[in-house]
Amino acid sequence: MTFEEAKQRVEFLTKTLERWNYEYYVLDNSTATDAEFDRYMNELILIEQTYPDLKYKNSPTQRVGGQVASEFKKIPHKRLMLSLSNVYNEDDMRDFDRKVREATGKSEITYMGEVKIDGLGMSLIYDHGELQYCVTRGDGNVGEDVTQNVITIRSIPLHVEEKRPFEVRGEVYMPKKSLDRLNAEREKAGEPLFANARNAAAGSIRQLDSSIVANRGLDAFWYYLVNARELDEHIHSKSLDYLDTLGFRTNHERRILHGVEECIAYINEMTKKRDSLDYDIDGLVFKVDDIDEYESIGYTAKSPKWATAYKFPPKEVSTKLLDIVLSVGRTGRITPNAVLEPVRVAGSLVQRATLNNEDFIKEKGLMIGDTVVLRKAADVIPEVVRPLIDRRDGSEKPFVMSENCPECGQPLTKVQGLHYCLNPDCPSRKIEGMIHFASRDAMDIDGMGDAVVEELFAEGFLHDIPDIYRLYNHGQEIKELDGWGEKAIDNMFHAIENSKKQSLERLLFGLGIKEIGLKTAKTLARKFKNLDAFFGLSTEDYLKVPDIGPVAASSLFAYFNEPKNRGMLETLRHEGVNFEYTGADMVDVNNYFYGKTVVLTGTLQSRTREEMTELLEGIGAKVSGSVSKKTDIVIAGPGAGSKLAKAQELGIQVMDEEEANSHLSNLRG
Ligand code: IVH
Repeated sequence: MTFEEAKQRVEFLTKTLERWNYEYYVLDNSTATDAEFDRYMNELILIEQTYPDLKYKNSPTQRVGGQVASEFKKIPHKRLMLSLSNVYNEDDMRDFDRKVREATGKSEITYMGEVKIDGLGMSLIYDHGELQYCVTRGDGNVGEDVTQNVITIRSIPLHVEEKRPFEVRGEVYMPKKSLDRLNAEREKAGEPLFANARNAAAGSIRQLDSSIVANRGLDAFWYYLVNARELDEHIHSKSLDYLDTLGFRTNHERRILHGVEECIAYINEMTKKRDSLDYDIDGLVFKVDDIDEYESIGYTAKSPKWATAYKFPPKEVSTKLLDIVLSVGRTGRITPNAVLEPVRVAGSLVQRATLNNEDFIKEKGLMIGDTVVLRKAADVIPEVVRPLIDRRDGSEKPFVMSENCPECGQPLTKVQGLHYCLNPDCPSRKIEGMIHFASRDAMDIDGMGDAVVEELFAEGFLHDIPDIYRLYNHGQEIKELDGWGEKAIDNMFHAIENSKKQSLERLLFGLGIKEIGLKTAKTLARKFKNLDAFFGLSTEDYLKVPDIGPVAASSLFAYFNEPKNRGMLETLRHEGVNFEYTGADMVDVNNYFYGKTVVLTGTLQSRTREEMTELLEGIGAKVSGSVSKKTDIVIAGPGAGSKLAKAQELGIQVMDEEEANSHLSNLRG
C-alpha cells in the first residue's frame, strides 16, 4: 500500500468506525457486527503502526485508551461554568416563573424541561469540525483537561459537520448498569465500593490511565450549546435538536412546556418515571426556551436567572442503627457516627451517618439497636432523622459518651457541648491532618486519599505533614507493600512533587488551622502574599482583614507562634514547598474587570462592599478607595455622592451594581 492509498483507507475506516459508533452508542441501533467492527479497528491500528504520520489525534483507535497522564492540565473556561438556582416545590416553581414573566414582560413563557443528570459537568470544545478538548467543570472558572479519558466514551463525536468553533456542555455519568457491574467487580477484588453513580463517574474521569476509564462503561448527555447564537440558533430546544443532527447524544426525556402549569405536570410525571430510567437523576431543569431573552433576564453571581433546577424531595428509608462509634477530626473534635445496616437511598449506598455530638443523640432519643429513619437528598449528607420507637424489642442499649479519646486514650475535654481530644500527638488527628493537607481543595495530591494516608501511617512512613515530602525515602519499602505497583508509586511521588508549587492559599488551608476555611485562606493569601509574613503578624493585624473575627484571629496568631508549627513549616520550606501566593495566575484574563482600577461607592445590595472588593480583586481588578484619573470604572449604588460626582466630572465610566453583576456573571454562563 502506498502512503496515498493508506491515507485514503484511514479516512474510510475512520468514517465507517465513527458511523458505527454513532449508530450503536447514540442511536442504539447498530448496523455492524462486533466482528466487523473489530476487523476495521484492527486494520486501522495496523496502518497507524506502519504509517505513524497517519495516526491522527482524533482517531477512533484513541478511544480504547492506553494513554497514561501524570496529571491533568488546568484549562480556564472561556465562559465560567455556572451552577443553577434550586426550586423545591410548586410554590418555588411558580415564583421562578413569575420572575421570568416580569423580566420579559410576557404573559406566558415557553420552557424546555429536562432531566438533571447526576454526574459530572463537562465541556467539549470543537473547532474546524474536530473535537479539540474536554474540560471538567472544576471550580467553574478553571477545569482540567481530561480529553484522553472522555474520548473513551464512544457516543461522543470526534468529528462533526459544523466547522465553526463551538462549545457544548453536558454531563458525563455512569449508567446504573455500569455501576452495578463495577461494584460487583470491586467487591470480588476486595476493593471499596463506590457509594453512588456520581462518585464512580468522578473517580473514573480522574483516573490517570485512560484504559481504565475505557472499561468503566461511562456515558454522557449534552444539554447546552454555549455559543448557540454564534451558530444562528436562537431557541434552546432547537439548538438541542441541532446537536442531535451533529451526532451528539442528547436526552430525549426533554419536553417543550408552555407556561408553568405544564412545568408542574412535567414534574409530577417525571417524579413517577424517575426510578425506571437507567441513569440517576437528582432533579429536573427548566430553561427559558428563547435564548434571545437570556440577557434581559440576566444572571446572579452564581447562576442564570433564565433557568432553574427542581430538586426532588429527600427520600426517607428505614434501617438498623448497629452501633455508634467515635471519630477524631484534625482539630481533635470527637464526632459520634452511626454505623448502619447498609441501605440504598437516593442513589447512594449508605452505611455511616454523622450524629454530630452527644446532645444530638440525646435529643433524638437514639438507642443502639434502634430501627431509624434515614433521609438523604441528592448532594446532601445522609441524616438520621428519628428512631422508630414502636419497633423496639427491649434489646436496644443506650449510648454512653466515652470519657477518653478512642484513638490515644487521653481524657477528652468538653467545650460548649462538644468533646475534644487535646493531645497534639493523637494519631487520629495526625492522620486527619495529613488527609486534609493532601485533599483536593488543599494541596491536591492525587493518590493520597484516606486509605493511602492511613496505610502509610500504619507502616510508619508518615507521622506528620512534612513526612509527605520525605516519603521518597521509603519508595522501595512501599513497593514491597501489597497492591502498590511501580506506576501508582510514581504517580503519587509525581503528585507530591507537583504539590510543592501550589499557591499559598492552598498551603494555608491545608495546614488545618482552626477556623480557617478555604475562603478565608484565599483572602489571607491575597493580602499577605507570602507565608513568612504571617510569622510577624499580631491578632490586631488579622482583625483588620475582612471576614476575620476574633476567634479566627487568635487561632491564626496561636498557630504561627507555636514553636512546633514553626519548626514544621521550616521543614516544608527546606523540602521546597512554595510559600508564595501565585493564585492570580489562575484568573481568566479576558474578564471585564481584569487589570482595571475600580472604585465602589454608595450602598451595594447583593453583597457587602468587602465581598465585592474580594470578588473583584480575585479576578485581577484593583479596588481603590478614591476616584482619580487612574480610575477605570466606578460602581455606584444608591446614596452615592462626591465620588460619583467626581467620576462624572472626569468622564470615568460609571455603572450600577446590576451592570457590574452582569459582567461578573458573563464571565460564567
Ligand atoms: S444547565 C447555564 N441542564 O447541574 C446552564 N445542567 O446544578 C447550566 N446538570 O453544573 C447547566 N443536568 O453539571 C443543565 N439538563 C441539565 C443538567 C445540568 C445536570 C448539572 C450541571 C450543572 C449542575 C447545576
